[in-house]
Amino acid sequence: MRSLAQRGFAASAASQMASEKPVNSKSFKIYRWNPDKPTEKPRMQEYKLDLSKTGPMVLDALIKIKNEVDSTLTFRRSCREGICGSCAMNIDGKNTLACITHIPKDQPTKELVIYPLPHMFVVKDLVPDMTYFYKQYASIKPWLQRKDAPESNKELLQSPEDRKKLDGLYECILCACCSTACPSYWWNQDVYLGPSVLLQAYRWMADSRDQYLNERLEQMENAFSVYRCHTIMNCTRTCPKHLNPGSAIAQIKLLLAKN
Ligand code: SF4
Ligand code: SF4
Ligand code: FES
Repeated sequence: MRSLAQRGFAASAASQMASEKPVNSKSFKIYRWNPDKPTEKPRMQEYKLDLSKTGPMVLDALIKIKNEVDSTLTFRRSCREGICGSCAMNIDGKNTLACITHIPKDQPTKELVIYPLPHMFVVKDLVPDMTYFYKQYASIKPWLQRKDAPESNKELLQSPEDRKKLDGLYECILCACCSTACPSYWWNQDVYLGPSVLLQAYRWMADSRDQYLNERLEQMENAFSVYRCHTIMNCTRTCPKHLNPGSAIAQIKLLLAKN
């Protein structure tokens, strides 16, 4: 027979358990590869988190895993608000930014699968090698080019209408989600510039202050730089900033046809 003290202890433990929130567990399956262990093949590693103790975004989950579960997990991030583009990765089959992607709550038992951006070399875990992507970006000379020097100490003016032509272009954060979703870019990365770099190229072609439109178009006058786009539109579907690189590419093709 139990004493009164034992009964009291059992009752208080039961009421404590009833007041504790049930663990809202979710599995994250994450791509792992370590360049320091080149003989080990890439693998998927599973982590379980209590969502009631995790922030709402996928990046929150990754940071929690790194801080509290496994400090070897490697990924890029900086701004955590969709501005820097560094946390681009493939989440449940879609290229997007981890910091502005909610952890899905509708199917709590379904694991969330995370890979690095597809068809890129991997530096480590979720970190893709962007070297070639940035070389392609540099190749389009992504800065204002003038033949006339501006009058000293005077800024170059632009009408509100001309400024409006840059909307939908200047917002690109070079995250590479679109390029790495493009089948043409997967297979022809060495010759095709890809939707991200082409959107940036068009951003400078559309700028009324730039005087190198012809030279910029000349660079596109070959069978590969722009014409490897087959209007599949994966790029526009995946862009986390809701931009339309497919349309920017169509504008370049139009300019080439008129030139
Ligand atoms: S529209 Fe062009 S750039 Fe965009 S995914 Fe398709 S082929 Fe690639
Ligand atoms: S167009 Fe969109 S997906 Fe492509 S690099 Fe720019 S922001 Fe990223
Ligand atoms: S951390 Fe900067 S875009 Fe996600």
